[in-house]
Amino acid sequence: MPKSPDEIIREDIGALNGYTVPDSTGMVKLDAMENPYRLPGTLRASIARLVEQAAINRYPDAAAAELKVRLRDALGVPRNMELLLGNGSDELIQTLTLATARPGAVVLGVEPSFVMFRLIAAFAGMRYVGVELREDFQLDAERVLSAMVQHEPALVFLAYPNNPSGNLFDEELVIRIIEAAPGIVVLDEAYHAFAGKTFMHRLERHSNLLVMRTVSKLGLAGIRLGVLIGPGEWLKQLEKVRLPYNVNTLTQVVACEVLQHGKVLTDQAAAIKLERGRLLRELGRVPGVTAYSSDANFVLFRINHAERVFDGLKKRGVLIRSLHGSHRLLENCLRVTVGTPDENTAFLAALAHAVAA
Ligand SMILES: Cc1ncc(COP(=O)(O)O)c(C=O)c1O
Repeated sequence: MPKSPDEIIREDIGALNGYTVPDSTGMVKLDAMENPYRLPGTLRASIARLVEQAAINRYPDAAAAELKVRLRDALGVPRNMELLLGNGSDELIQTLTLATARPGAVVLGVEPSFVMFRLIAAFAGMRYVGVELREDFQLDAERVLSAMVQHEPALVFLAYPNNPSGNLFDEELVIRIIEAAPGIVVLDEAYHAFAGKTFMHRLERHSNLLVMRTVSKLGLAGIRLGVLIGPGEWLKQLEKVRLPYNVNTLTQVVACEVLQHGKVLTDQAAAIKLERGRLLRELGRVPGVTAYSSDANFVLFRINHAERVFDGLKKRGVLIRSLHGSHRLLENCLRVTVGTPDENTAFLAALAHAVAA
């Protein structure tokens, strides 16, 4: 008799709740921080031609050489820094944890933040230490610094702007953390397009700093491409853990083409930022709502009876994300992704009904 999963699968994995993705068929989908705009028809047509020619009978270019050249240019990567590509930045988080998971090694993050930092640390068998943010979602630098002294983390993850709060952490406090960290500090700039601020230009000053970007929030979530940027001495070790061919041919072809038309994406990001302003203003007018200002493409807000409101929105065909119950600081909090003007109008109308119901 073969053993049961309970006997074979690691106990800590058995006890985990995995990352769940709700069914969004037919809904106004404002739950995953996607860019609501598709690419223009001409660009889609040129992608179709390139895909037609792509040699998908062969493995992809393992070094993704052309894509790296385009990314260097598009992201403004300092000359003396290297790039490591991932199947989304989720995979880069995994690469980082696998490579640093010495026995007893610690990952440090702040709470609440992007849940995959904690989950992937668990996958790699690392201990995760979550340091609570202040009530206003700003860094509590003293707590982070003393946790670093106590736990000596191999890896520190900071999302900049943070998800789910949407704010940028104070730059000076982040620098203090980088300077005091005994290991790597990863600045996850997934929402950079909507924030403008970056630590990219600081890479040369801090030898333990890595900057992570993704094309997901820019309008290319479907192709799965993340980028880690940093000094060669770190990246050449991490590169050993990367699976060969992790960035497939179609992703490479599409990303290269779209990056040559980068203005399309920056224009879309500008439209999203405008709508973010409108959403914040309108949310501020809903009785009982506290909306938190955002440097990302989503807005966190607190509302009475959040779970009931969330269900009411869903019943009216609008899917956002409830964070109620996930952390003490997120009591009665919901997070809405900025959509098209029509989608945002639909959300606001459904919200008015859900609140009144
Ligand atoms: C802070 C942060 N980092 C990374 C990701 C994941 O990005 P990707 O789609 O590149 O895996 C997300 C997705 O929501 C995020 O919020």
